[in-house]
Amino acid sequence: MTAPAGTVRLDGRRIIVTGGASGMGAGLVERFPGLGADVVSMDVTADEGARIAEKAGARFLRCDVTDPVSVESATAEAVGLLGGLDVLVHAAGIAPGSPAESTPFEMWNRVLTVNATGTFLTNQAAFAHLREAGGQILNFASAAGVSGLPGKAAYAASKGAVVAWTRTAAQEWGRYGITVNAIAPAIWTPMYDTTRASMTPEQLADHDAFMARAVPLGGKLGDVERDFVPVMAFLAGEGARFMTGQIFSVDGGTLMVR
Ligand SMILES: NC(=O)c1ccc[n+]([C@@H]2O[C@H](COP(=O)([O-])OP(=O)(O)OC[C@H]3O[C@@H](n4cnc5c(N)ncnc54)[C@H](O)[C@@H]3O)[C@@H](O)[C@H]2O)c1
Repeated sequence: MTAPAGTVRLDGRRIIVTGGASGMGAGLVERFPGLGADVVSMDVTADEGARIAEKAGARFLRCDVTDPVSVESATAEAVGLLGGLDVLVHAAGIAPGSPAESTPFEMWNRVLTVNATGTFLTNQAAFAHLREAGGQILNFASAAGVSGLPGKAAYAASKGAVVAWTRTAAQEWGRYGITVNAIAPAIWTPMYDTTRASMTPEQLADHDAFMARAVPLGGKLGDVERDFVPVMAFLAGEGARFMTGQIFSVDGGTLMVR
């Protein structure tokens, strides 16, 4: 598949993408090889992940980002396949809904484990392979982690953790030439389809009316290929090496605080 004209090329970049079986991660696995990158996709969803990677000319490894052994061994295997590592794009995550007062204990733990602990584990595993020659880590935060998000308490808390982790690791790992940034996206993916499917027709109508006001550029979530891939190609390229500890909103202007 071809990315939009003007998209930065990634010739020779060795890139791991987690969450490569769906949504934004899948979008990068599909497009980055065409830009010249060598890509290993990882996901807990193996069949779909392998199918997408194979079709795109990438490799696939099953990995559960909540399991330290799985993360460490998959990362080491990926680095072996790639012959080194330049970039980790850590897109794996979950986003179930939960009002603050009735969030079940198990859901809280699950969401924090996948989103926050998964970021910690994948970033630590990547660090071991980046510390010699430097490189880039791109995590996935959310506007929810900055502004909060009613109805998604555990999710918002987990993404707040991603923001704080990203800024801390950026400060600690700069001396190794490693940049650590996070994306706060608002992109239409299967995760958003799931959120929409959980709404009543009235809630959906209210939501769409809200989005029409909240997203200055277009009034709805963006498109993976047009709005997301070109930004990620720039951030995964060497030209982005002097930016770290940042939360980049790729969201049509929805989040204007940092
Ligand atoms: N879609 C948006 O607009 C939006 C907004 C804010 C933040 N985000 C964040 O962006 C990231 C990607 O979102 P998306 O919309 O593409 O999601 P998605 O649901 O389409 O894809 C997420 C992928 O993560 C994988 N995954 C889940 N748990 C895993 C685990 N334990 N180990 C390995 N893989 C696992 C899933 O199998 C899936 O393939 C997520 O971190 C999400 O929280 C998305």
